[in-house]
Amino acid sequence: MSDQPAKKPETTTPPTGAKSMDAIMALCKRRGFIFQASDIYGGINGFWDYGPLGAQMKKNLREAWWRDMILNPCWGRKGPNGERVRCVPVETRIIQHPKVWEASGHVGGFNDPMVDDKETKQRFRADHLYKVVFFPRTEDMAQVDRTAALLLDVQMTIVASTVGDAIAQLSVEPARSQWRRITRGFAPVSWIITNDQAEAPCDGTDSHRIQSIAIYRVDYTQPANAIDRLPSPFTGKKGSLTPPRQFNLMFKTIVGATGTEDDAAYLRPETAQGIFVQFKNVVDTTRVKIPFGIGNTGTSFRNEVTPRNFTFRSREFEQAELEFFCHPDESPAWYAFWRDFRMEWWKSIGLAGDNLILREHDKDELSHYSVGTSDVEYRFPFTAPGFGELEGIAHRGNYDLTQHQEHSKVKLEYFDQERGDLLPNGSRRGERYLPHCIEPAAGLDRGVLALLCEAYTLDPSRPSPELLKLHPRIAPIKAAVFPLVNKDGMPEVAEKVYDDLFAAFGRDGFIETDAKQSIGKRYARMDEAGCPFCLTIDGETLTNQTVTLRDRDTGTQERVALDQVVGVLRQRLGL
Ligand code: GAP
Repeated sequence: MSDQPAKKPETTTPPTGAKSMDAIMALCKRRGFIFQASDIYGGINGFWDYGPLGAQMKKNLREAWWRDMILNPCWGRKGPNGERVRCVPVETRIIQHPKVWEASGHVGGFNDPMVDDKETKQRFRADHLYKVVFFPRTEDMAQVDRTAALLLDVQMTIVASTVGDAIAQLSVEPARSQWRRITRGFAPVSWIITNDQAEAPCDGTDSHRIQSIAIYRVDYTQPANAIDRLPSPFTGKKGSLTPPRQFNLMFKTIVGATGTEDDAAYLRPETAQGIFVQFKNVVDTTRVKIPFGIGNTGTSFRNEVTPRNFTFRSREFEQAELEFFCHPDESPAWYAFWRDFRMEWWKSIGLAGDNLILREHDKDELSHYSVGTSDVEYRFPFTAPGFGELEGIAHRGNYDLTQHQEHSKVKLEYFDQERGDLLPNGSRRGERYLPHCIEPAAGLDRGVLALLCEAYTLDPSRPSPELLKLHPRIAPIKAAVFPLVNKDGMPEVAEKVYDDLFAAFGRDGFIETDAKQSIGKRYARMDEAGCPFCLTIDGETLTNQTVTLRDRDTGTQERVALDQVVGVLRQRLGL
């Protein structure tokens, strides 16, 4: 295998005040949410497995998507045409005819620019290169003349996906020691990070200290930023970086027994193309009419140059994509409709706070065929204060159908019987066109990660301070039933309650029961696993037929009649 095995999951220290990614990753491993793939062999870089709780959580997310996008799209809401939104599913293969990827542009253009450090042999994405510049205070000109002037041209570089990631990386060794070396004679330095030229006020008192540190994304295509003038992020030396080279992200494989290049094929880098190439079959074999969507979920593969940040950038990941086909004239309205609904949807399953934003791409970020693209972005601990993409909603025009029509020589136009001139008999002449497409494309692994990061809560006032405030719809364990003590008739009642809950909710997630340890420890275990409700059978149950229902987020307990437990939970779980 050419790639290095991952010895340990990559971690970064988030800025002060943010949630600790290390703590979230530790909990994920400890409670069986996410493991490194091939863990006992030291892991394999860019691949992650889900343990029992993670697998169920991801299934819940996938099913929530399926229900709200395919079975009951947009919760039954009407679209901009005043009618119910209609969508159908497909399941298409990971391996498609290689010409699919030529037509889609992935073979020719799905590249990342890559830079190597010639000395350390480390490789990273050139568009993830950030330049850090130190600005001295300027009031004390004597100091500036003597020493601080040296700083004006001092730079260091780091590899980071976002400004937030850059800030996080600056606060870990060896970056800290590197900038300490650069600012020798100025320590202790009061430092402030800005991502533009604006110099933030310094809270230090000595006038000769650093005024600010600015972080810029390196535009390596500009001669002024020529790569040989940048210090290596690893050694600090200038001239040891190779010029950027294009690296194709497609995973190649061989189909069939002969094993020659003639049989080369690719693992899909997105599920979307499987939908486009089945567009005609779906139209011809079902009663769908434009506007309608075709959706699917499935695994995609990208040979990412720098897989990083836990599951955020993996080499194998799952997507949930919808291609919504509509008449070109109606496409701007459908684009706005889907963009807004997708944002609302992520909020509805637990990403309701300030950590979620909808970012409309600037015009110069858009592909030539696109009317608009927006990203639903989440502030992950490793991107804070910046955001990382969770889902892209793109207006793709008729680009994909045009490409496949040209490459396959099969007509993919749609004949719309409800358009065109009105005929004397009251019907329409019809109109033939290539539909436009709106694509909400979500990542399920990034979704799980965002939901885990959002749910992770530290509450020092609790005996066991770590808990996951997962939305009940997504939580892998729906409820837990405990006999307070393992005697006096309580286990028998607990078993009966367990059976009732299992019958009612057992197909939506796990129902747990546990009779060991103190009740506090049992609650703590469930809090950490994100279980929203615990029911305890105690002495009172035997006399007045009620149980305590404990709410994970508030820790409050109330008494509920035994015969109402299923109804109350159904309502609170939203199932
Ligand atoms: N068909 C369009 C498409 O694939 P994309 O923005 O490249 O668009 C859609 O991918 C989503 O897939 C992203 O928003 C992200 O959630 C997820 N995704 C993409 N690359 C990923 C990776 N390397 N690891 C994990 N998730 C990824």
